[in-house]
Amino acid sequence: VFGFDLKDTVQPLEYDDEQEGLEDQVVIKFSHVTSEHTPKGLAARKFAELVEARTNGTISVEIYANGSLYNDQDEQQALKENRVQMIAPATSKLTSQFPKFQILDLPYAFSSYKEVRKAYEGSIGRTLLAELHTSEMKGMGFWYNGFKQMTSRTKALLHPADFEQMHFRRMPSPVIERQFQALDASTSLLPFNKTYQNLNVEFIQGQENTTSNIYTKKMYETQDHLTVSNHGYLGYIVLTNETFWKNLSPEQQKIIESSLADTTDWIRRHSIETNDAHLRELKRTESISIHYLDKEQQEIWRHALEPVYIETEKFTGRELIQELNQIKD
Ligand code: LMR
Repeated sequence: VFGFDLKDTVQPLEYDDEQEGLEDQVVIKFSHVTSEHTPKGLAARKFAELVEARTNGTISVEIYANGSLYNDQDEQQALKENRVQMIAPATSKLTSQFPKFQILDLPYAFSSYKEVRKAYEGSIGRTLLAELHTSEMKGMGFWYNGFKQMTSRTKALLHPADFEQMHFRRMPSPVIERQFQALDASTSLLPFNKTYQNLNVEFIQGQENTTSNIYTKKMYETQDHLTVSNHGYLGYIVLTNETFWKNLSPEQQKIIESSLADTTDWIRRHSIETNDAHLRELKRTESISIHYLDKEQQEIWRHALEPVYIETEKFTGRELIQELNQIKD
């Protein structure tokens, strides 16, 4: 009736189109451990939106928040094996494999957001990204969260002596361990998503984190005191799988890089607002007392933590410490 056989024309053509579409589709599994409402959660979402819009959906980014796929202890291995294609661990979590990353955990390394930016986006950041060359992980850049604050279940932490004999949860960085040792406190290394339940355990009395992590993980339910100490900075390194990356076309790489750069610009500003908003929320809960250190108290903390620098220099090298001093405002 139609003059040609449908089977031989239309159907095979449609089939070919579909095959092509499938081959072009790239899925990036992005795994992270914090809540969706934190700076990292928001940045991952923004990044996914930009990539999907700019590639007309030919690259999709699937986000797994709250450690729902991998926790902070196994996400790096999962990335190396390409079971996920992107992660953004706290820089502290790379310190055992790449000791130079310890530089970013030094207490009072940064006294302003400007200084953090200079480190991340300047020569310190470039040195650290280059450290990853021998691994299956490719460093794409740094994302911002915020300054860390101390919390405690048992007492207000206003003076270094208040830390004596206390026990804290900490992230896996030797600098953070040294920081608590300098305050005569001891620590347990615990994954982020095990922190909430362990803060209920009798022997763990406190922890340090950004207000966004403290609020979204409801740590105020067990912690009675928060000191706005700003004694260290918590930020992230965005990583992808090296082989996955090499298999993308130059065009796809360009779009991912520009989406990441725009996300970084956005989260640099947004992370400050988010942490401030969550500090206000913490105040509103009235279940945790917020303490501020005066100038004199801050100086006493800084002085008590100075010995941490001497030990850390053995791992970072003198040059990085000197660079850190050069970015001071
Ligand atoms: C922590 O373990 O406390 C943080 O690194 C969690 C995070 O990713 O912000």
